[in-house]
Amino acid sequence: MSELKNDRFLKALLRQPVDRTPVWMMRQAGRYLPEYRATRAQAGDFMSLCKNPELACEVTIQPLDRYPLDAAILFSDILTIPDAMGLGLYFETGEGPRFNKIIRTEADVQSLSVVNTEADLDYVLKAVSTIRRELNGRVPLIGFSGSPWTLATYMVEGGSSKDFRHVKAMMYDTPEVMHQLLDTLAKSVIDYLNAQIKAGAQAVQIFDTWGGNLSDVAYREFSLKYMQQIVAGLIREYDGQQIPVILFTKGGGQWLEAMADTGADALGIDWTTDLGNARSRVGNRVALQGNMDPSVLYASPATIRAEVKRILDSYGNGTGHVFNLGHGIHQFVDPEHAKAFVEAVTELSPSYHG
Ligand code: CP3
Repeated sequence: MSELKNDRFLKALLRQPVDRTPVWMMRQAGRYLPEYRATRAQAGDFMSLCKNPELACEVTIQPLDRYPLDAAILFSDILTIPDAMGLGLYFETGEGPRFNKIIRTEADVQSLSVVNTEADLDYVLKAVSTIRRELNGRVPLIGFSGSPWTLATYMVEGGSSKDFRHVKAMMYDTPEVMHQLLDTLAKSVIDYLNAQIKAGAQAVQIFDTWGGNLSDVAYREFSLKYMQQIVAGLIREYDGQQIPVILFTKGGGQWLEAMADTGADALGIDWTTDLGNARSRVGNRVALQGNMDPSVLYASPATIRAEVKRILDSYGNGTGHVFNLGHGIHQFVDPEHAKAFVEAVTELSPSYHG
């Protein structure tokens, strides 16, 4: 494979010296970009776009052609795993994800088996290898998966939820059934991420979007424990290169020490936690990725720049910081504001290094 021309993202994740703070944006390929909307229209619907490796590659690279980003992220979705388990994922316009089959009972859980990545998620692996070839060493490629808990919320609720009534009832009433579901998912995630690594992913991120909705004990037992199993089961070196693992629990600020104990290389931080405070708590055990409130991108470029400066100051000097948003970029953000964000990081961050 071609040599990496820009490795500051991988270096910062491993807390090695860099010339400036690397930057990428969660959901950087998406509806705020007119070129994304055009390719998506060409594909038909969202899942057809995910299942077409050439078009998935095209949208992965679109934000890199606009902004000086330091990483690409595979264009796919966390819900490909439940889809491959036979749940039948579809997207209702304006209503988010939906499943034909919902998991509610012990029998439903027992009917599930560990995903067969090679057979049923082959389109994701093809997208990874296509993107890697097309990037030609420009920046590293991030692979990803949802966390078992976050995947379970969608599978049991049947889609997005505000109160998580079904999944929490299952967790509290029949914890052993919940554990069986999470165990099947953790094994699936390990297989899926290792296959992405072998296909060319150079770092992997686990999205635990809904872990922050759990009580302290429940988070440790139903979310963190399974992410820990995943970290332990991942390929950490491939093709002579270390493969950094990033754990991101949205709303997970109170568990940073415990998350660092999993052996992950980096933690994603949302905007509700102060980055400098997070750094002093985890020390040099892990790198930190984040953490600008994505809504700052609705403000003016001057305000965005000031907020970038504040976050750089908060982290302070030295490596171990990957700049990002604290969650995905919103669909109504002006692409010029995203540009102001990325450029502010590239222009202001060199003085915090060297
Ligand atoms: O970051 C990237 O650019 C890579 C692509 C990516 C998508 N989804 C594309 C997408 C990634 C990393 C995800 C992860 C994902 N998907 C998460 C975890 C991260 C997070 O945001 O918390 C979750 C919870 C999902 C599930 C999901 N997929 C939802 C709830 C939705 C609907 C969102 C909405 O606003 O309607 C999706 C669809 C989705 N995934 C879109 C994109 C670009 C929008 C679909 C479209 O084009 O219409």
